[in-house]
Amino acid sequence: MAVIADRCPHIQVTLVDLNAARIAAWNDPDLANLPVYEPGLGEVVGRCRGRNLHFTTEVDAAIARADMVFLSVNTPTKTRGLGAGQASDLRWIEASARQVAAQATGHTIVVEKSTLPVRTAETIKQILVGSQRLAGGANGAGGARCPEGEPGGPPAKTFSVLSNPEFLAEGTAIRDLEHPDRVLIGGEDPEAIAALSAIYGHWVDPERILHTNLWSSELSKLTANAFLAQRISSINAVGALCEATGADITEVAQAIGADSRIGPKFLAAGPGFGGSCFQKDILNLVYLCRHYGLDAAATYWEQVVAFNSWQQQRIARLVVSRLFGTVSGKRLAVLGFAFKADTNDTRESPAIAICRDLLEEGAHLVIHDQKVATSQITADLGRPPDGSDRGFTEDGSWQQVDTPLEAVTGADAVIVLTEWAAYRTLDWPAIASAMRRPAWLFDVRDITDTAAARQAGLQVWSVGKG
Ligand code: UGA
Repeated sequence: MAVIADRCPHIQVTLVDLNAARIAAWNDPDLANLPVYEPGLGEVVGRCRGRNLHFTTEVDAAIARADMVFLSVNTPTKTRGLGAGQASDLRWIEASARQVAAQATGHTIVVEKSTLPVRTAETIKQILVGSQRLAGGANGAGGARCPEGEPGGPPAKTFSVLSNPEFLAEGTAIRDLEHPDRVLIGGEDPEAIAALSAIYGHWVDPERILHTNLWSSELSKLTANAFLAQRISSINAVGALCEATGADITEVAQAIGADSRIGPKFLAAGPGFGGSCFQKDILNLVYLCRHYGLDAAATYWEQVVAFNSWQQQRIARLVVSRLFGTVSGKRLAVLGFAFKADTNDTRESPAIAICRDLLEEGAHLVIHDQKVATSQITADLGRPPDGSDRGFTEDGSWQQVDTPLEAVTGADAVIVLTEWAAYRTLDWPAIASAMRRPAWLFDVRDITDTAAARQAGLQVWSVGKG
């Protein structure tokens, strides 16, 4: 929305949320305090905020004024009830659609921005169309437009529903939005499609704006994420085989990526995929496949997630086994906690599962991450930090420090879990002399200067290389 405001100064964009603290943070005069860390976002918000980009908790008033409403609420995996563990929880989408139905005035284009299971637009339409009936507007399926209200009365309340899934990745969000590979708009109402296309048309080449039906659009989003996640599970499966056989994952990735049908991107082996989307979207796909009786297809996709969990468990087991089968009471430096570089997001971060397993083994973890707050790590690990480093404890302990050098001081091992740029240029002689011997480097992102680490006296294990 910030990028839309930036590229379309004539359009007033209002972001609404019920969470007052969150909205206050978006309105913080100091752009460094925005609630989301994303390179370039502060500059965009700084240019537009107060001009044509507004943040407010006045949800009803903003809906009433809007010509177009983007539903961008959370759709986490259900934790209970029907479809628990796989299906998306649509309660916030439904609540938002009801609120839009109640508060909208005149004709409103409702855009699904959240990632949703296929045919959710149908639910949204039913809710909106129900309100049209109450308001005396059109009640045709699909939220058909009805321009005429009662003579002399307010204009009829009518809706069009579009699907416009988002393909940005965190850490590169601004660049992805400013130069998208494609913009996808699904829907049936040509005027609504034209209106949304015109917004993107201010900076996106029309050839990159794809139009599909609603269901294709919803399914394309889930499928794109499933393909990307599958690619990571595939490369990690090959990485494990490389480690066992003496092949090198970088060389293999380069060799296969040179095939233009495969392509070089998204072939970096690592601790497995994290983030709020991949696992959730695949599980959603699995649920849909089962719902339609396609059990073999469901099992196929399920395996991508199962393998990802295996990869995370494998890393923790491997660290323990290299450190003489026990990490109890040992200091382990963990470099990186975010699910990828250039974000403060830790949702489904592989670091969570790996750190939890190591804590279970009694390790003392000294965690460094330049953007993740201690309160977030506390929530993710389910326990507060304990900086006292009490030596041998049954259930492990952790603390967060400000520099990689503090993290490694007295440590038996350094474990690199996030590919922050700073970890590419670590001073290995200084690190080696601060560590306890024998000292290990586990480079789970394959980004460090392992030759320098070896030269400095460390024993080295790299993902996909051994
Ligand atoms: C992903 C998709 O890439 C976006 O297109 C999509 O819009 C987004 O989900 C979403 O649905 O919202 P995101 O999760 O932000 O974006 O980040 P990715 O760059 O896709 O990385 C996901 C995970 O895969 C990270 O843990 C990353 O470290 C890992 N990864 C990525 C690898 O292990 N190897 C790679 O080569 C690439």
